[in-house]
Amino acid sequence: MTNSLTSLPDSNAVLSQDELKTRVGQAALQYVVPGEIVGVGTGSTVNKFIDALASIKHQIKGAVSSSSASTERLKALGIPVFDANEVEALSVYIDGADEIDVQGHMIKGGGAALTREKIVAALSCKFVCIADESKLVQVLGKFALPVEVIPMAAKRITQQFATLGGQARVRLQGDQPLVTDNGQIILDVTGLQIADPLAFESQVSQWPGVVTVGVFAFQKAQICLLGTASGVKTLTF
Ligand code: 5RP
Repeated sequence: MTNSLTSLPDSNAVLSQDELKTRVGQAALQYVVPGEIVGVGTGSTVNKFIDALASIKHQIKGAVSSSSASTERLKALGIPVFDANEVEALSVYIDGADEIDVQGHMIKGGGAALTREKIVAALSCKFVCIADESKLVQVLGKFALPVEVIPMAAKRITQQFATLGGQARVRLQGDQPLVTDNGQIILDVTGLQIADPLAFESQVSQWPGVVTVGVFAFQKAQICLLGTASGVKTLTF
């Protein structure tokens, strides 16, 4: 991993987490290719990027979105949204993360959009992760791992995680299981230390009923714009 500091905050400024998100969202504009379609993730950090993207919307063709929530925000700002099946490939995908390690592997899915996020990431030549510094970890697993599953497989998958030392719980919305954009449910798994993200993603992806595991190792980030107290750091993996 190499790293460089690309901007400094005003002297004496104490930046809130929200301000750090705004700064990395704006910094991501430098990776958007004029005249092209950009891949857009989901979450509060990406919302800052979408707001910034609106300022250059006439320079791009539009976006492929990873969730209904991002699609709605993009359209409200006048940015055309394309179906993933309409594009061959994307130069760049911009998205947040719940955790990112020093090699660019991530945990994602805190916003329940992990399946579409992985699809758009796979279509893209470069993944630019935007995050504040609280997301940088040595080993993935501090944040509960989201896994989108088919409801009838939830019990068996919960048992399989238990054999790995993980405790899986169905994510709720109110008192009901949260239903994803794909009509499935999410298990949040705690108690894992994911030392080998590639092997872990490979293993869990093969369990019957797993739609998507929220480890992004095959679709890892090439760049991370990290919002820190001393400015936006660019990490290159
Ligand atoms: C959504 C995601 C988000 O990228 C992740 O949860 C980070 O979100 P935020 O920017 O709000 O912290 O994976 O499914």
